[in-house]
Amino acid sequence: MTIPILLDVDTGIDDALALLYAAASTEARLVGAGCVAGNVSLGEVTANTAAVLDLAGHPEVEVAPGCAGPIERPLVITPETHGPTGTGYATLAAAPDRISGRSGIDLIVDSARAEPGEIILVALGPLTNVAAALRREPRLLSLLRRLVIMGGCFTVAGNTAPRTEWNMHVDPEAAKEVFAAAGRGTRSLPLVMPLDVTEQARLLPHHVARMAELAGTEMDSLRPLVSEANPLMSFIANALRFYMEFHDRYDGFYGAFVHDPFAVAAALDPSLVSTVETTVDVETSGGLTTGETVADFRGAWGREPNAAVALDGRAELFLERLVTRIAGLVGRHSSES
Ligand code: BDR
Ligand code: CA
Repeated sequence: MTIPILLDVDTGIDDALALLYAAASTEARLVGAGCVAGNVSLGEVTANTAAVLDLAGHPEVEVAPGCAGPIERPLVITPETHGPTGTGYATLAAAPDRISGRSGIDLIVDSARAEPGEIILVALGPLTNVAAALRREPRLLSLLRRLVIMGGCFTVAGNTAPRTEWNMHVDPEAAKEVFAAAGRGTRSLPLVMPLDVTEQARLLPHHVARMAELAGTEMDSLRPLVSEANPLMSFIANALRFYMEFHDRYDGFYGAFVHDPFAVAAALDPSLVSTVETTVDVETSGGLTTGETVADFRGAWGREPNAAVALDGRAELFLERLVTRIAGLVGRHSSES
């Protein structure tokens, strides 16, 4: 039995790795990819997502553009993290007719209705599309097998403001709506993958070198790599080189946090993380803390839990899967091209 998985992305370098992880996971069936503005503009997110899926050998997976900006706020993007177009030093091209005529919001609602109780929706960007889908279909969370959210921070510092993680920072109102809808009679509590757990995994140059080696591709470092024989491995290396330089500047290590693929990995195998059931709300009007995810760990609010928050994870096992699975995909790609 394969697991139908629908990704909502703001591709983005780690979103691209998440798409590749899903494409490489034999237990998963990739239902589609909804796109939301976040790391870069909606147009760039959509083009990147389609191009990555094409490179991964999945031209049939629907790529649907959703919201071009947050519910209430102007869009902020982060080219310093993900590069000028969202893929670091890599350049990608997708055929214009590759993009679906259906919106990313309809993709979520239609898919959930078509396979009630089956689909795992993994939200890897700002929650704007998910909030819009909930407005259209208030039963959405009951129609899904599970919602998985990459976002927030609870016991560690934010990566955008002192208490705020990026996806929450971009659209806190959307996040607040989604958490408000969660927990009330929904099939299972949303799994939240905050920085607390995603920052336990650091992808380092030796992981990428091993990926290339396992895939049978020549690469001895993260130097600029142009390989006509393997455009997928070139893409990965050139995107990650930019992302690692960013982490070197901002986080003090030459490597990368790989938030989004960790969320996909935990969606497919929840035993990768340990969770705490709690009530989560999002600050939308704090002077210093807008976008902060607040968890009521001691039950002070007296409200029902609405989230299973992962605070700890098996980071090494996840990294091993990331390397071996994507290497398998790269290897298949090179042997087919
Ligand atoms: C999240 O922010 C984005 O930049 C990444 O793609 C990830 O989804 C991490 O805070
Ligand atoms: Ca993302």
